[in-house]
Amino acid sequence: MNDPPFIRLYKLGKAYQGKEPLYQNINFFFEKGDFRYLTGASGAGKTTLFRLLLGLEKPTWGEVHFRGRIVAKLPPPKRPLHRRSFGIIFQDNKLLLKQTVLQNIRLPLIIQGVPLRKADHQVAQLAEKLNLTSLLEQPVSTLSGGEQQLTALARAAIHSPAVILADEPTANLDLEMSARVLDLLELFHQEGATVIFATHNLELLKERPHPTLLIKDRNFFEVKTP
Ligand SMILES: Nc1ncnc2c1ncn2[C@@H]1O[C@H](COP(=O)(O)OP(=O)(O)OP(=O)(O)O)[C@@H](O)[C@H]1O
Ligand SMILES: [Mg+2]
Repeated sequence: MNDPPFIRLYKLGKAYQGKEPLYQNINFFFEKGDFRYLTGASGAGKTTLFRLLLGLEKPTWGEVHFRGRIVAKLPPPKRPLHRRSFGIIFQDNKLLLKQTVLQNIRLPLIIQGVPLRKADHQVAQLAEKLNLTSLLEQPVSTLSGGEQQLTALARAAIHSPAVILADEPTANLDLEMSARVLDLLELFHQEGATVIFATHNLELLKERPHPTLLIKDRNFFEVKTP
């Protein structure tokens, strides 16, 4: 039997109460191993799409399928496992500022019940790859914006999720730091992750072309990178 589609949007529509729909009747597939930019004006619904994929938000119409299952219909006991397939870098990074880099990055492992020593070992290995080792004991509040985004990236990827959702992780970074973030996402992609990267940064799109999905006029468009 064929594998079910990896991510399928089926007649998907979303409208918040009392507002015009963000999108309607969207049919789209994300394949395993895709690296896609997601772009569109502020308010187009990029973050909302991530929330729909995670199951934090329900579609108003249609369905989001992940590996053949309808996300909104997952029974409560299955939901944590679903979320574990995703690593997300939030638009406002959601790091715990008073906690150290190490404590932040290992959190998803602790939630999964990985023993502390094993978790710390995994964090040490990833930190080396990301050049973060010297920062591990520092509270996040003392880091630069770029260092914080690298920490958020490490926290999103520490449990080797099948999908990494990056919500404008380079919004406040200079070109050099943005390139570093992208290098790392491309590395995770090479290691097998599917990456969806929401961004407004046209420079980045130009310099590092990947297939791009544009949300516009309540629809999704596949666009050629400019
Ligand atoms: N919980 C909510 N209740 C009502 N409206 C909401 C809610 N969440 C988002 N919206 C609205 O939905 C629209 C899309 O929001 P979303 O955060 O998905 O946009 P975005 O494309 O990520 O924008 P940005 O580029 O600014 O991050 C916005 O107009 C927002 O105000
Ligand atoms: Mg957003």
